[in-house]
Amino acid sequence: MNESATASTAPATARFRQRIFSGIQPSGGLTLGNYLGALKRFVEKQDEGIETVYCLVDLHAITVWQDPEKLRHATREAAAGFIASGIDPARSILFNQSQVAAHAELAWIFNCVARMGWLRRMTQFKDKAGKNAEEASVGLFAYPNLMAADILAYHATHVPVGEDQKQHLELTRDIAIKFNNDFGVDFFPVVEPVIEGAATRVMSLRDGTRKMSKSDPSDMSRINLTDDADAIAQKFRKARTDPEPLPETVEGLDGRPEARNLVNIYAALADRTPAAVIAEFGGKGFGVFKPALADLAVEKLRPISAEMTRLMADVAEIDRILGAGAERADAIARPILADCLDIVGMVRSRPAHG
Ligand code: TYM
Repeated sequence: MNESATASTAPATARFRQRIFSGIQPSGGLTLGNYLGALKRFVEKQDEGIETVYCLVDLHAITVWQDPEKLRHATREAAAGFIASGIDPARSILFNQSQVAAHAELAWIFNCVARMGWLRRMTQFKDKAGKNAEEASVGLFAYPNLMAADILAYHATHVPVGEDQKQHLELTRDIAIKFNNDFGVDFFPVVEPVIEGAATRVMSLRDGTRKMSKSDPSDMSRINLTDDADAIAQKFRKARTDPEPLPETVEGLDGRPEARNLVNIYAALADRTPAAVIAEFGGKGFGVFKPALADLAVEKLRPISAEMTRLMADVAEIDRILGAGAERADAIARPILADCLDIVGMVRSRPAHG
């Protein structure tokens, strides 16, 4: 048994070079939740001088039905969203998952490591499958194993995500620990979730107790990165709120999920703390705060959507970037997968295999 693999803090990743990995599903347009909870933070990490690997997880997207043409479009548009938000394909590795076979191959190994009971506990499966679990794809159930493979194929040590991915990252840690213990190795790092900032859980604009999501049937519940200024202003104007003015302290947001959400969004967009936002707007009504928030969101998001439109005019260039990123990703993941297969006991005699 390998003791170091069971440690839950820094020593579990200490021998590994720091590397950041994260992904977003191209299963529709990107939302303000994706932007504030993930993308904006991916850009900050890129600028911290650590190697950053970012992936459009198209294999994850097909765990629920995707029209093939729409999926291709959404993948390219999401890539444009990454670049428009500040991901530099020269400094970060940016690619789509299905172009690097190691993800699916390692996921199979992890299907054989993870236990049924672990996956049954995943709240996201319960939420997505709902009462229709018998009709859900096997892929939707096994999805967290693929997510673990995404991360561990790169020996990534840090994974920036929104709050909703926390349980999946705990599973990733459990898989790494079990693999290391089963085979008596210190092979996979026990990754650190990086869930930080004011907007780790952006809520629906229609219901402050539900997450903002690209799959919500109401478009008014979310801001899309492709929304124009009018749509953004209208959505914030119509956002559900209570009748009270904003409180004078952050504690005053307790029990007011809609108010808290809008304050958090403002704080994240402005790179300020919720306390600083309350210091400015405390005591003011939503008639003042909502237009200020809409103006700020337009100011921050307009350049991104304009740049996305510009990039989408040259799809061949986006495909070239994703292809080049996939080559670089493959060069990292393939040797790690090869070592993993060796550890598991696979005969590997093809001369061309890495
Ligand atoms: P996905 O595609 O649902 O979301 C992508 C990222 O955006 C964050 N996010 C949010 N953050 C704050 N508020 C919200 N309302 C909100 N909605 C989404 C998510 O937390 C996530 O960070 N399973 C993942 C994709 C994935 C992945 C990975 C992530 C696949 N493999 C490996 C990290 C590492 C997912 O479905 O995210």
